[in-house]
Amino acid sequence: MTGFDPATVQAALAGASLPWSVRFYPSVDSTMSVARALADAGVAAGTVVVADEQTAGRGRMGRGWVSPPGENLYFTILLRPTQAVLRRLAMIAPLAVAEGIEAQTGLRAEIKWPNDVQLRGLKCSGVLIDTELRGDGAALALVGIGIDVNQDVSGVPEIAGLATSLRLETGREVDRTALLAAVLQAFDRRYAEAAAGGNVAAAWKARLNTLGRSVTVSGVGLHEEGIVEDVDADGSLLLRRDDGALLTIPAGEVSLRPIAPPADR
Ligand code: BTN
Repeated sequence: MTGFDPATVQAALAGASLPWSVRFYPSVDSTMSVARALADAGVAAGTVVVADEQTAGRGRMGRGWVSPPGENLYFTILLRPTQAVLRRLAMIAPLAVAEGIEAQTGLRAEIKWPNDVQLRGLKCSGVLIDTELRGDGAALALVGIGIDVNQDVSGVPEIAGLATSLRLETGREVDRTALLAAVLQAFDRRYAEAAAGGNVAAAWKARLNTLGRSVTVSGVGLHEEGIVEDVDADGSLLLRRDDGALLTIPAGEVSLRPIAPPADR
């Protein structure tokens, strides 16, 4: 990975709460499947699978994730959280990405419910979480994160007009090594805070750009329109429908689209 140095990321995490172990691969199908195989082989929590390129990157809702070499960050964090922390992972991950991006670039990063990270309303990062709960209550979580760092996403038809990259926003190349270190440092802090019973939901909510918006929420067997009134402590969306009903929609395999206000005449 040109300009990417996993040893520097590892060194930046010395003294962190989690026992981080960064593993770099030039090309994989998906960091999710590599992390899954490592989990099955019993590697420790805190293992991070980073790839320069993914040939079959996975997004939410069965979509793909465009993953060319040499430009972006693609990584999966392997965790074995308590149930309480597991419920906060979908907040911790985008929060850490937003905080890492801000630390490295000075750009204001917002979160589009539930866990996209946006700059000026355009997506620059997505989060995909696979979890497995065992009978004894132990959990495995694979937290996959993609960040469009230096790619000119305006040339990618599937995402043009919806996505941006840190280079497009700053006008300069962004150092992927320093960015990954900053995101993992922020993740470590927020994970430790959640494990200690802290209120990471408040920091996540403070970055949401979805509150008060008219939106359409859709997923399997779900299609609702309304105004986003609030989120609850678990991160579920509280949607006020036109008929006055207040719906609680858990974050999961759902997507949210803004309804454009009527055009001025
Ligand atoms: C989304 O659809 O917004 C989630 C995208 C998640 C992409 C990341 S890239 C690293 C990890 N490996 C994958 O195949 N997907 C996730």
